[in-house]
Amino acid sequence: MNNLKIIFFSITLTFLLACNTTPESNEIKVDELIMSKVDSLLKLMSLEEKVGQLSQRFSAGLDNKLSDDIKNGQVGSLLNGRKNFYTVKERNKIQKIAIEETRLGIPIIFGHDVIHGFRTIFPISLAQSCTWSPKLIERANSVAASEAAANGVDWAFAPMVDVSRDPRWGRIAESYGEDTYLNAIFSKAAVNGFQGKDVSSEGKVIACLKHFVGYGAATGGRDYQYTEISDRTMHEVYLPSFEAGVNAGALTVMSAFNDINGVPATANKKYIRKTLKEKMNFNGFVVSDWDAVEELIKHGIASDKREAALLAINAGVDMEMKTLTYQKLTEEVKANNLSENIIDEAVGRILFVKYKKGLFKNPYTSLTNVDKANPTLEKRKLARQIASESMVLLKNKENILPLKNKKINIAVVGLFANETNVMGWWQSLGKNEEVVTPYSGLKNNADSNITITKEVNSKTDVIIACVGESSTLFGENHSRTNIKLPNNQEAFLNKLKKKGKPIITVVFNGRPLDLTGVLESSEAVLIGWHPGIETGNALADLIYGKSNPSGKLTTSFPKSVGQIPVYYNQRNSGRPHQSNYRDETSKPLFPFGFGLSYSNFEYDNLIVSKEKLNRKDSLVISAQITNNSNVQGTEIVQLYVQDIVGSTTRPVKELKGFRKITLAPNESKVVNFTLKTNDLTVLNDNFIPIIEPGKFNVWISTNSDKGLKGSFEIEK
Ligand code: NOJ
Repeated sequence: MNNLKIIFFSITLTFLLACNTTPESNEIKVDELIMSKVDSLLKLMSLEEKVGQLSQRFSAGLDNKLSDDIKNGQVGSLLNGRKNFYTVKERNKIQKIAIEETRLGIPIIFGHDVIHGFRTIFPISLAQSCTWSPKLIERANSVAASEAAANGVDWAFAPMVDVSRDPRWGRIAESYGEDTYLNAIFSKAAVNGFQGKDVSSEGKVIACLKHFVGYGAATGGRDYQYTEISDRTMHEVYLPSFEAGVNAGALTVMSAFNDINGVPATANKKYIRKTLKEKMNFNGFVVSDWDAVEELIKHGIASDKREAALLAINAGVDMEMKTLTYQKLTEEVKANNLSENIIDEAVGRILFVKYKKGLFKNPYTSLTNVDKANPTLEKRKLARQIASESMVLLKNKENILPLKNKKINIAVVGLFANETNVMGWWQSLGKNEEVVTPYSGLKNNADSNITITKEVNSKTDVIIACVGESSTLFGENHSRTNIKLPNNQEAFLNKLKKKGKPIITVVFNGRPLDLTGVLESSEAVLIGWHPGIETGNALADLIYGKSNPSGKLTTSFPKSVGQIPVYYNQRNSGRPHQSNYRDETSKPLFPFGFGLSYSNFEYDNLIVSKEKLNRKDSLVISAQITNNSNVQGTEIVQLYVQDIVGSTTRPVKELKGFRKITLAPNESKVVNFTLKTNDLTVLNDNFIPIIEPGKFNVWISTNSDKGLKGSFEIEK
């Protein structure tokens, strides 16, 4: 039996023994059936055809070369880019060659970067994470999936679940932030959104967890760079979001560009084969990132394409994206340098996913669904809600916001006032002309008391300054050493300040920025991120008080580049009381979990249900939250824990839970969190979770820097 079969059969058997006719057991039966189809098909395939399945091509369109390669069974997948995106007609034409003009009629799987929307562009992922709402993240990805699927996409290269702690790194914008626990929760939500319960059903696409693994730890925040990640940090920080996605059923994983401690991720057997495939029981396939197999030569680990291909396939990379080094594998098998079992395992996994997606049954995309993929009112409503819930209010001096029930003149100025390019770095098939700009949103939603102008004049009562960084300053290979506002925008704000009018600054950014200067010149500061298609409307909802800000940061905002990396769950030193810089404190400008509201929430009455618990126990931690204001508001209540003494040092705080609650004016609610000892494990030297006795601190808080503090103990 080949490796793949052993894995599948042992998984299915364990499950089959454990359950009878639950939805899971039905799915296992379906998977078993698929496995037997895969097995039969594999037997019919020549070595050349098998190797062909391992190849993902990128081609701007159907040319003779591509057509011939497909006919020769050399193409397993196609990457459909944003530019020259194949229409459904073109896609079907290409697919027809694979189905009708190849010996075995194996369908091609079409992949595309569906990152934060397809036609309806939602806020960038970093912004989405600031909603702290797995439901909203699932819904956004479900809309993106339906639009992409209607346009012939079978497979989304998302979600990116790289824990990201370096604001210089441009790809922090694509991440769900600095915290492992949150990344794991959003990983699951995104996979559910893309794949649904049955990925073969209409409007669903295959998800791809990326970039496996540790890509966010790039040295100096420079993209693609070397990463030095201890085994412990890998297991504690970077792997859990992938494991959560695998457990949610993600059918593909992308191997990363980075070198991990001397072994590039795309040649890393320890993490791909041993950890992902064997330990996590991942049963889908692994695709390399773009060119990443051939890049093993530049990394200096392979001397030629042949060696690069052998390293990657042996490490467990099943499909090669874009480069063609895997074509060498046929000869390598023939020369006995590679076992055909390894090829069979990779092909088996790819065919398994193609069957799961239903591509053998329905290889073509219906032409009639394309229209459904346009942004509708309903989808825009969701985009508007997500955008307004993802914006984070950082400053609101003397409650200048919201601008409500006032007869006022507002000047909307700044580089981003009329900007339509607020769709982040991956824009898929989003259209600039569909984006509501800050200016038009504020103008169209203003009531009759409000006058909006495009410049400051003598009648102006308040200035809304729209500043930020364009989508060409963040994203892939767009790192920065300077994380202040670019293009002299701080000087612009200082000049505005001289006009003597209050300034509300809205920042459209893709990373945590150093906002020290902005805070000085502004009465209010709102982080807008790149909010997508509903930018202006979402902004208007918050500015005019139709919605109350509830977003909270999922990455700390540093005071300066020199503080990086700064994240809340660092470990203590032996001298935690000493500030680490002569010229700066070690505290960030805004901590993880921070975000203001127009309401005023008070936290009281922390109760920890037990002082002591045994290993099988659980405990409840509760606090009363009161909305001490006259506006309804939503608060994200956070639970943090510190394991005070353990066999290894632990972070000063770790997020263990959160609740998003809405409170009417003067309403109080008791929020309960249940903690089981299983939630309090540490990893032993073999990275197995264990429960250790000892004392813990616990906080219920409004952000990672504050909170009502209690304690408890796990008994020996
Ligand atoms: C490279 C990026 O790293 C990855 O995230 C993306 O999915 C691929 N290119 C395909 O476009």
